[in-house]
Amino acid sequence: MTKPDLLLVADLAPRVVDQLDQDFTLHRYCDATDKGAFLKALPEGLRFVATGGGTGCSREIIEALPALEIISSFGVGYDAVDVEAAKEHGVRVTNTPDVLNDCVAEVTMALMLALAHRLPESHAYVRAGRWENEGAMPLTAELTGATVGIIGLGRIGKAIARLAQAFSMRVVYHGRSEQAHQPFQYYDNPVDMARDVDWLVVIAPSTPQTRGIVSREVLEALGAEGRLVNVARGDLVDEEALIEALSTGTIAGAALDVFAQEPNVPEALRMQDNVVLLPHIGSATHKTRAAMGDLVVKNLRAHLRGNPVLTPVV
Ligand code: 8YV
Repeated sequence: MTKPDLLLVADLAPRVVDQLDQDFTLHRYCDATDKGAFLKALPEGLRFVATGGGTGCSREIIEALPALEIISSFGVGYDAVDVEAAKEHGVRVTNTPDVLNDCVAEVTMALMLALAHRLPESHAYVRAGRWENEGAMPLTAELTGATVGIIGLGRIGKAIARLAQAFSMRVVYHGRSEQAHQPFQYYDNPVDMARDVDWLVVIAPSTPQTRGIVSREVLEALGAEGRLVNVARGDLVDEEALIEALSTGTIAGAALDVFAQEPNVPEALRMQDNVVLLPHIGSATHKTRAAMGDLVVKNLRAHLRGNPVLTPVV
């Protein structure tokens, strides 16, 4: 029996590609040099797409595949998938939620601890032999007793809230709406929340409503003792305003796993001494990435076998 055709829009981990290869005939769009010609040459009845959260799936691809039924995307954020185009054409989209919650929450706390206690500088200080020559490092901030405002109290936001509570932090949040069953104070306005917190953690999806939500005004409200953490998407923060806020002392520091134009991080941001910068590793552990990859495959296999997909977006 011939295997159904699947378009691999982004290259995925060997573990995922090997599993897909068992059930599907793979068409590696990710490797094609002439993408347009590659799309035109695909088998007419192609029904399956697998992609990565960073690459997503464009309207052009969706419209080039008249028989397309499902786009299975690796990652919880699916902002790079043209969901509107998928809806218009009756194409199902799936993502990989939940399995990464704890990992991303853990990395968020790691960023907060690193920034508060100046861990990267302290590590470099010891390694460079400066401790014995120059003495103790300057004193630092800490998390205990501080207030953290979470933008986006979703599945990952709630995991972060639980860890923050374990560090004796007070948790408040801003989101589209108040969640009656959450014990945390709700703010309907991010500026008001920023004014009241020591830490602002961004973990909301990138949507037209959230893009630029951490504006100049929010950074000013966060203030000279305030610190920003972004583990969501770079475009939720006005990066230019952030660079300015860091240079002028408008805020105390920032810890970032995501950037506006990944993997390019503006030099003006890299040069700040009050930042901790990571190369988008929030979910990048063996365990979590394996679980995410397996979910990409499970969604496609479920659809192939006529079963409901596990984690639909639309
Ligand atoms: C992934 C992410 O690194 O899940 C997400 O939304 O940002 C990360 O976990 C990314 O999607 C991989 O493509």
